[in-house]
Amino acid sequence: MTAQIIDGNAVAKQLRTEVAQRTAALKGKGITPGLAVILVGEDPASKVYVGKKVQACEEAGLHSVLERYDADLTEAALLARVEALNQDPSIHGILVQLPLPAHIDAHKVIESISPAKDVDGFHVASAGALMTGTPGFWSCTPYGCIKLLESTGIDLRGKHAVVIGRSNNVGKPMALMLLQKNATVTICHSATKDLKAHTLQADVIVAAVGRRDTLTADMVKPGAVVIDVGMNRNDQGKLCGDVDFANVKEVAGWITPVPGGVGPMTVTMLLVNTLEAAERVAAG
Ligand code: GUN
Repeated sequence: MTAQIIDGNAVAKQLRTEVAQRTAALKGKGITPGLAVILVGEDPASKVYVGKKVQACEEAGLHSVLERYDADLTEAALLARVEALNQDPSIHGILVQLPLPAHIDAHKVIESISPAKDVDGFHVASAGALMTGTPGFWSCTPYGCIKLLESTGIDLRGKHAVVIGRSNNVGKPMALMLLQKNATVTICHSATKDLKAHTLQADVIVAAVGRRDTLTADMVKPGAVVIDVGMNRNDQGKLCGDVDFANVKEVAGWITPVPGGVGPMTVTMLLVNTLEAAERVAAG
């Protein structure tokens, strides 16, 4: 059996087209969704990421502002900028790119963002909203995984989902989103005994560890759906995920590739969240 490939680029393209259409409709009512992105310092990967976010906004017709600051920006100055953006009616979403320089308390900065503008979904109010099933913003990477799962047409209700990884940004919110979709959820992590015993039970596996070959073919039930959140390099320096793709695809029913799976979805869900933030303002 060879798995069907879940094409993240295609799902992202479709969603971005829908975002562009809804953005145009909102502009017709005099509201342009606006995203502010704050980058502090010179981290090369962060520069690439924020560039992609701003470009994606432009392509979908959203307004975006990139604010760049030197690495010696004080915490107080950053908090003052966030507060000004909280008050700015042209800005519906605020994203402070992480990591921040060591002298800035990232948690304090994230908590200073208005929950109504927390399009990253990192604020404790957003995490609480996800936990209680109340309106809020879902963090972009796990939300993108949900969209990829939905693109297969498989109903998650009653399915056994195993999430490997318990990070605040991916593993934990992923488990809560799958629970919201009525899956039976197991979270595995570095202290889990016999990971394979768990994954072999799974109808859906999400690998979000950050270590290649975490999930191998002998660990997968035939026909399972495999979502690979990992972004690693192999010995040849080529991008790879947490899943042994070449072998797992011979067992799984559906699988995301790396690159071209989860990656394109993170920025896409940021656009979706920013648009929804603006739509909520428009709805009053
Ligand atoms: N750094 C790496 N990924 C992300 C992200 O999704 N949001 C923010 N704010 N920082 C990041």
